[in-house]
Amino acid sequence: MIVEMSKKFFIRTFGCQMNKHDSERMAGMLLKEGYAPAKSPQAADVIVFNTCCVRRHAEERLYGNVNVLKSLKKERPDVIIAVGGCLPQKYGEEVLRRAPHVDVVFGTHNLPNLPKLIRLAERNSSPICEIWPGTQTFPTELPSLREKRFQAWVPITIGCNNFCSYCVVPYVRGRETSRPIQDICREVRDLAEEGVIEITLLGQNVNSYGRDLYGRSRFAALLRELNKIEEVQRIRFTTSHPKDLSDEIIEAVAECDKVCEHIHLPFQAGSDKILKAMNRSYTKQQYLEITKKIREKIPGVSITTDIMVGFPGETEEDFQETLDVVRKVRFDQAFTFIYSPRPGTPAAEMGEQIPEKVKMDRFNQLVSLQNRVTLEESSKMVGKSVEVLVENVSKKDPRMLTGRTRSNKVVHFPGSKKLINQIVQVIIGEAHPWHLIGEVVIRGQCSVRSSELEIQN
Ligand code: 5AD
Ligand code: SF4
Repeated sequence: MIVEMSKKFFIRTFGCQMNKHDSERMAGMLLKEGYAPAKSPQAADVIVFNTCCVRRHAEERLYGNVNVLKSLKKERPDVIIAVGGCLPQKYGEEVLRRAPHVDVVFGTHNLPNLPKLIRLAERNSSPICEIWPGTQTFPTELPSLREKRFQAWVPITIGCNNFCSYCVVPYVRGRETSRPIQDICREVRDLAEEGVIEITLLGQNVNSYGRDLYGRSRFAALLRELNKIEEVQRIRFTTSHPKDLSDEIIEAVAECDKVCEHIHLPFQAGSDKILKAMNRSYTKQQYLEITKKIREKIPGVSITTDIMVGFPGETEEDFQETLDVVRKVRFDQAFTFIYSPRPGTPAAEMGEQIPEKVKMDRFNQLVSLQNRVTLEESSKMVGKSVEVLVENVSKKDPRMLTGRTRSNKVVHFPGSKKLINQIVQVIIGEAHPWHLIGEVVIRGQCSVRSSELEIQN
């Protein structure tokens, strides 16, 4: 008897959570088509790169990764290499010029066609390129292979209307398009039935959710609806935009018990001159006021942010304004970026591009200030008991589990694997720059050592 082995796929993802979610959809589709997941590109018959073009760095890493596979493709010409997502959407067939050994190139809107394109490439020797220019369709009807059984991403809007002058997203993801509230609620109920207890709502600007459909933002209403779904225990969302984070939304976060106390609120830069040139639609003072309001209304909230240094025209004085915001707001964590010009965006055409050395120097100052703030803020949690959703065994130490607090801080603690997928109380013992260390509280009182915990669970 001849047993046909199923072909295997491997997906490498670059970029944001929306991309990670798109990769889950790709995996779901390929699984349905009869492919099985492979542990490495070398073990796969189909290798998919889901790309990002927000910063030059991600683009260079992509080409580095794809080009490493040249020798594999020589050894095994049947292997299919596919490059999809934001980079082809922006640069089209240029991907094939820079990486001629690629077999399939597809855009952000062509995701549902991936299995078809792979089948075509399997039969064809010349590369296949499919990039649709615009109209968004939500890939929600597509199957999804989630990394974790109990956590799920749920896109609520795609695209962006803000046109920040440095950003390529509106050009590759198109205009903001919201999903009807009933569709989102239906999907979350289905996920809850499958055992999902934590959902993360995704969008480039979730705060303006629904404006295209209902004439005004319905994000607060959406949070309140989702909060009613019994099995769901945690609701997260990202990304917020300071110009659209209304009082109504802050109140909904404060009042909905399942909505986690964490707001990711990119501020990008502290100087009003730079904010204006970035087309961000708020001032430093307005940003400081919003964060103050968030802290007043939502006890225990953590605020995280994105910050960019080296935007065209940024003087030392402007940069000092950025550091001032970091000192004043005291972010729990910040994602820090060095501005890189993106072809086709207004900022790339601006004069006064900042020399690399100056950018690097400012970046280092920013990172060292924020690292100090992050550690100081985390240290305030030592001795506190916090609710942790246990996600996994720690990658570094198999005796430790890892999970996240409602405020999205990573906590490592000793414990049995059986706690994975459960919510436990943990007492924080130590704060480190990127994580906390704690011990599980048993029956609401004393903490125990790892050996005891193994026996009790
Ligand atoms: N250069 C550097 N960083 C950028 N970001 C977006 N575009 C650029 C760019 N051209 C950063 C912003 C955004 C985050 C996702 O990436 O800080 O919030
Ligand atoms: Fe880009 Fe600005 Fe839209 Fe964010 S809000 S995706 S930074 S254009």
